Amino acid sequence: MARLILVWLWLSGISDMTAAAEPPADWRQSADMPQKVDRLVEALPSAANIMIEMGERYQNLYWAAKQGKWEFAIYQTEEIKELIEKLEITRPKRAASAREFLGVVFPLLPEATKTRDWKKFEAAFEQMRRECMACHVKNEMGFVQLPLPRRATSPVLNME
Ligand code: HEC
Repeated sequence: MARLILVWLWLSGISDMTAAAEPPADWRQSADMPQKVDRLVEALPSAANIMIEMGERYQNLYWAAKQGKWEFAIYQTEEIKELIEKLEITRPKRAASAREFLGVVFPLLPEATKTRDWKKFEAAFEQMRRECMACHVKNEMGFVQLPLPRRATSPVLNME
């Protein structure tokens, strides 16, 4: 009898373990299509997510040009444009002001950068900087001021 109870305890232990080991349902497989779409929309990058990257590119663009790394600078201008286009999709509330920014800054900024002439670049960068801050004002974020960057973060630029 004691042996039987032991076997029973052992078996129920195994079934408990299998229950605990079962992974939680993965919504990517189990949810229906409208639920999946809802979740994906929720997971889209926010304006804040995008703007953190924008701040990095802003610094990297400026210092790439200053260091004469023009190819890298041109690449930054393209990424900045793509970030704003992404913002238009993920945050429709910001789309009108995003369009205005693109209208003023592009293609002027990449064109000026492609001349590899610091003076022309500097003028275009200054215009972009003003437009960045104008968009912050339009979106009740006027306190996000952007001074000229003292340093940049990219390892490509290898700054202190
Ligand atoms: C379409 C309008 C728009 C444009 C254009 C824009 N921003 Fe922003 N930016 C925002 C909004 C909105 C926020 C606040 C994000 C939020 O909702 O929390 C922001 C926030 C920021 C922040 C603060 C991020 C944080 O959370 O710490 C930085 C840095 C920034 N922007 C940099 C830039 C730079 C640099 C440019 C230009 C190259 C730029 N932004 C252009 C709308 C814009």
